[in-house]
Amino acid sequence: MQRYLDHNATCPPLELALTAQIEAARGAFGNPSSLHGSGRAARRILDDARDALAAYIGAESGSLVFTCGGTEANNLAILGGFASQEPGHIITTAIEHPSVLQPLARLEEAGWQITRLRPNADGVVAASDVAAALRENTRLVAVMAANNETGVLQPVAEIGVVCQEHNSKAHDKQGNHTVFLVDAVQALGKAKISLRDWNADFVSFSAHKIGGPRGVGALMMRRGMRIQEIAPGGGQERKRRSGTENVPGIAGFAAALGQIDFSALQSLRDAFEDELLAALPEAVIFGKQAPRTANTSMFCIAGLDGETLLMQLDLAGFEVASGSACSSGKREPSHVLLAMGARQDQARSSIRVSFGPSNTPQDATALVAELARIRQRLRSMAGAA
Ligand SMILES: Cc1ncc(COP(=O)(O)O)c(C=O)c1O
Repeated sequence: MQRYLDHNATCPPLELALTAQIEAARGAFGNPSSLHGSGRAARRILDDARDALAAYIGAESGSLVFTCGGTEANNLAILGGFASQEPGHIITTAIEHPSVLQPLARLEEAGWQITRLRPNADGVVAASDVAAALRENTRLVAVMAANNETGVLQPVAEIGVVCQEHNSKAHDKQGNHTVFLVDAVQALGKAKISLRDWNADFVSFSAHKIGGPRGVGALMMRRGMRIQEIAPGGGQERKRRSGTENVPGIAGFAAALGQIDFSALQSLRDAFEDELLAALPEAVIFGKQAPRTANTSMFCIAGLDGETLLMQLDLAGFEVASGSACSSGKREPSHVLLAMGARQDQARSSIRVSFGPSNTPQDATALVAELARIRQRLRSMAGAA
């Protein structure tokens, strides 16, 4: 039996999201831009889904642009918002997802100056650091709501206030204000989404982290925000994102909203961490002192390689993630943990467990027992060598 413990990577699809997708694919096959009945039926599904997402996150329906996922939503805000502008200054954090870091690196190549703030040892970026880094020509502040590796929540409401205060005092010579982008992909369904409190101009979302389909997401754009399409075409989504909308996927996204109560997983996650520390006292849990999404636990066990651990766990039926990223065949340590001040060996050996609604306390207990067994085995192999 495989135990799936990797819900931050993707959440298994919810039955009702699958049903909504199949019904939309079969029953509303028209192109939502077509004016005939079949097109109008597809358009209705799109409109209903947009209204549902808007109501769920507290936004206006017209502010939502459907995309092919969180990656595209972040790229649309960053490249669509700024690539055609005069280069200025941008503040972000060293712990963002690659879908924020990479488009920002592209802007840097084009002459933009990027400040990448580091979090404290618990993984939290201070709003005061954002305030201190602001310049007259800061055009964008990009900070995630919840980190995908550690689950640590960032003080986005405080950072929103910092941006608002900055904007009320200063404008650059062209009258540009500082735009605030929040990557809320890992926060949706797991933390309070409060667009009003966050004072954000752009917020990105993804469907597959909440039991909806992969390849579907959305960007919330505050009224008055302008972007240039990054893949120009037929002008769908009010000329903000061309391409025929993925109507079944979007229907599945809407159906999944609010269906999983991730906060209910806190006692399971906490019990897992207690059991882990009791069985393997050398384990280090990252971000444990910070507010975190309730389903996530990232840790390392001194002396045990993360990749080896992950493979051994997989063989024993536990599907978890490692914090290290694989790039061109070379294993890179987790950039998130390095930014938090973890040692290279810790950043290379980290394991992320992210629980979901089908997990039970028995899964957590069995995982700890397996970790202890693997440690024993690897240590005795190392001793015998
Ligand atoms: C924080 C964060 N942002 C963005 C993304 C990208 O979302 P998608 O997989 O929908 O492209 C992810 C996915 O892991 C994520 O965790």
